[in-house]
Amino acid sequence: MILAQIIPRKNPMRGLYQSIQEAVEFLRRRIDFQPEAAIILGTGLGGVAERMEIVDRIPFHVIPHFLESTVEGHKGDLVFGRLANRPVVVMQGRFHYYEGYSMQQITLPVRIMRSLGADFLFVNSAAGGLNPHFAAGDIMVVTDHINFMGGNPLRTVADSRLGDRFPEMSAAYDKEMMRVVSDAAMDLKIPLRFGVYVAVTGPSLETPAETRMFRMLGADAVGMSTVPEVIVARQVGFRTAVFAAVTNVNLPDCMQPVSVQEVIATAMTIEPKLLALLEETLRRLTISDRVGNKPGAQ
Ligand code: HPA
Repeated sequence: MILAQIIPRKNPMRGLYQSIQEAVEFLRRRIDFQPEAAIILGTGLGGVAERMEIVDRIPFHVIPHFLESTVEGHKGDLVFGRLANRPVVVMQGRFHYYEGYSMQQITLPVRIMRSLGADFLFVNSAAGGLNPHFAAGDIMVVTDHINFMGGNPLRTVADSRLGDRFPEMSAAYDKEMMRVVSDAAMDLKIPLRFGVYVAVTGPSLETPAETRMFRMLGADAVGMSTVPEVIVARQVGFRTAVFAAVTNVNLPDCMQPVSVQEVIATAMTIEPKLLALLEETLRRLTISDRVGNKPGAQ
């Protein structure tokens, strides 16, 4: 206690703020581009960037403080360009907690993309279905989450420059965006599921007993990502929509083994639907939906 008073506490978040500034300065020097939306692509979904009018493609490893993706099925580029004629920044590949990085490290790109000016965030990820009505190949729009990762990316010494220390999570998944997504899906005749995503650390998959427990807790799908990004997105004021690509369905009483190769292969079959939905949603988002143009919108 006495020591704590004498020795000033080192603040790791001071470093985090500095890192964001350095990465943003680097990117602004390299490209003069103001994205409206940021898009994170998950396992087997990297092809979305191929549909863009690309302005610049920057490998993760050249961006200060960015990590390198170590996962099969993930490329590692930050891609700037236009999708559905809207200016976007796309993370082609992402970082996972199970790769051994900290939650702060894996969520740094979310802070950087918000600092570049993006208002909307779309997160795409592969997930295992828990709801017995779901089938492999479904798209689930995430309406809420359960953080079962045993950590939180905001857990550190406070720094008000990073945003609210205790972000409100009742509307982390933006209802207006969900409405636009639903309308777009209806017109495209793409069936959607809606549900709760439970995040686990992985990389081992769930046992039958864990699967049963997650279903009893109220989850509809389980995955190894997304939740840290959504928590940080909330802190920095993004409006967020999340698409979970259901790559397999886990039913505790008739559990089937699932391989990463199957997950990637199924995600790739979902990709065209997901891309059409993403493009149509982007086309329909209006400027008035943007952060700051609505009273109380954050
Ligand atoms: N469990 C966890 N993560 C996943 C799964 C799963 O069954 N499928 C795709 N990502």
